[in-house]
Amino acid sequence: MDPQSDYEIDELISAKSIAARVESLAKDIGTYFENTEKLIVIGLLRGSFVFIADLVRELEMPVEVDFMEVSSYGDTMESSREVRILKDLRGEIEGRDVLLVEDIIDTGHTMHHVLSLLQSRGPKKMEVCALLDKPSRREVKVDVRWIGFEIPDEFVVGYGIDYAQLNRNLAYIGKVRPPN
Ligand code: PRP
Repeated sequence: MDPQSDYEIDELISAKSIAARVESLAKDIGTYFENTEKLIVIGLLRGSFVFIADLVRELEMPVEVDFMEVSSYGDTMESSREVRILKDLRGEIEGRDVLLVEDIIDTGHTMHHVLSLLQSRGPKKMEVCALLDKPSRREVKVDVRWIGFEIPDEFVVGYGIDYAQLNRNLAYIGKVRPPN
């Protein structure tokens, strides 16, 4: 039994596997942006806060870090399809190279909305890196250049991802076993 809750959590991706994947993603990202003078790395709050912290520390290039908070879910397992901008970027992205960092792409609605909003601000180049992808749940197409892990349609928690705001602090990705 997980100490934070009354439901069970089974490990899906270990902390060690995540660390290895983050290192390799950072290498690929560094190569792709090798001619970029200063990359703006944008984390979508709240779920991406752990991933972005690990990812930027593996990037061996000058980076600026900014955050945006959007919300598409309440405290349930259901998607509302609504995307609200709760906190906007502090900095400008016009003419800049941008990396958007997300914890998970599910239906794709969140990233679709964020990408169209940020594209309208005229970045030079903008790419997406998501730690997890659930392709079987996709409802709108989004271009994600880097994906950490493709996962089945399970409710996942940990490494920044919550269930009813808990379990973001787990070092691994686990799947929630729904109550019988
Ligand atoms: C989660 C996740 C993504 C989005 C993915 O965010 O962090 O942003 O849902 O779902 P989609 O592809 O179906 O749009 P959430 O709104 O739960 O907020 P959080 O990051 O603060 O946990």
